[in-house]
Amino acid sequence: MNVLVIGGGGREHALAWSLKQSKLVKKLYAAPGNPGIEALATCLPIQEASPEAYLQLAESIQADLTVVGPEAPLVAGVVDLFRAQGRRIIGPTAQAAQLEGSKVFSKNFMTRAGVPTAGAFTSDTPEDAVARIGEFGFPVVLKADGLAAGKGVIIAQDRGQALEALAKLPQGRIVVEEFLRGEEVSFIVYTDGHRVFPLEATQDHKAVWDGDQGPNTGGMGAYCDGRILTPRQVDQAMVQVIHPTLERMKAEGTPYTGFLYAGLMMTTGGVKVLEFNARLGDPETQALMHRLSSDLGALFLEGEMPQWKPEPSVCVVMAAHGYPAQVRTGDLIHGIESCGTEVFHAGTRRGSAGVETAGGRVLGVTASGGNLKLAIANTYNAVDKITFDGMHNRKDIGQKGLRRW
Ligand code: AMP
Ligand code: GLY
Repeated sequence: MNVLVIGGGGREHALAWSLKQSKLVKKLYAAPGNPGIEALATCLPIQEASPEAYLQLAESIQADLTVVGPEAPLVAGVVDLFRAQGRRIIGPTAQAAQLEGSKVFSKNFMTRAGVPTAGAFTSDTPEDAVARIGEFGFPVVLKADGLAAGKGVIIAQDRGQALEALAKLPQGRIVVEEFLRGEEVSFIVYTDGHRVFPLEATQDHKAVWDGDQGPNTGGMGAYCDGRILTPRQVDQAMVQVIHPTLERMKAEGTPYTGFLYAGLMMTTGGVKVLEFNARLGDPETQALMHRLSSDLGALFLEGEMPQWKPEPSVCVVMAAHGYPAQVRTGDLIHGIESCGTEVFHAGTRRGSAGVETAGGRVLGVTASGGNLKLAIANTYNAVDKITFDGMHNRKDIGQKGLRRW
């Protein structure tokens, strides 16, 4: 089979790394890919990131299967277009991707489907939001409606911060939401529209600094160890969240296919959904693919149940100077080849002197170990061997999981 991966971040590098090992994949392509993916797949430049352009590429390489990494092409309708042309593609349709594409749609949908989530109201105007801002007390969570690359959510500690945040958020509708306390878990399932395959739970680290301090990022690291949720909690997530969501999507005429990512908060009052994403998480995928022992291609093409290695995996993101604010690019990276483990590229490019930084999250250093402590140590040993000017990374990825060992 010829397989095309759409995207060029760390998640897509991890997907390509896994697909490269599949007995069903003959030729692997990525669009646009990145310098790390180049070692595994033929990278195809894209002139324009439109569904039509991706379709043309898929036709030109006779792709038998296309796997979509990021949300933007999904929300733009790449799956609809491929299916209309009879091309096999993994992901939800544009309408189904609204679960991620619109916070207002997602929140209203959860209410209709009876999925447990934080109390919320939607404001069409900033004036309405200002008038009602204290309804859930403080802290309060403000969410811009549309896609915002993980940066459209602000947690305001008091009224003053909330009013400031309202002025900062993009124009348009906003969701004002009750602040939930608990532990966050990324629970991702894959569905072909009929069968549902839960992946192992993972835990992301969203805040930029150690101890969950500082502003939120796309994710500074993740781990996967088979202990994040108990079997009972997985059952709860399936029964209270995943099944009602998939059933309701079907009933509303927008059946869901592809990866569905439920960002869960494990509260004292049970599991609650913070958000849905219409795709795999980044950096969750790097940890997931490192632990997957079965054939990813066979999951897509033959419905083979995913299997997991017993060894936990950990991914630490090395970020560029300035991230998550204004990012500096062009810093030369040293030590990737000799660090001794998988390094998934995200914001990198080839410069005249070698691979250099080209984005906020630069690398996802990923390793495993006999237990979580060893997996963490192995990952940080590799992180210590990689250097670039201005780099920063969290030092506490996976620490939350140690109390379960
Ligand atoms: P979202 O994009 O909706 O997942 O929000 C991004 C991050 O903001 C989440 O991963 C949480 O860390 C935090 N967050 C979102 N909603 C809430 C909430 N209702 N209560 C507490 N934290 C939240
Ligand atoms: N790591 C969080 C996300 O992919 O949305």
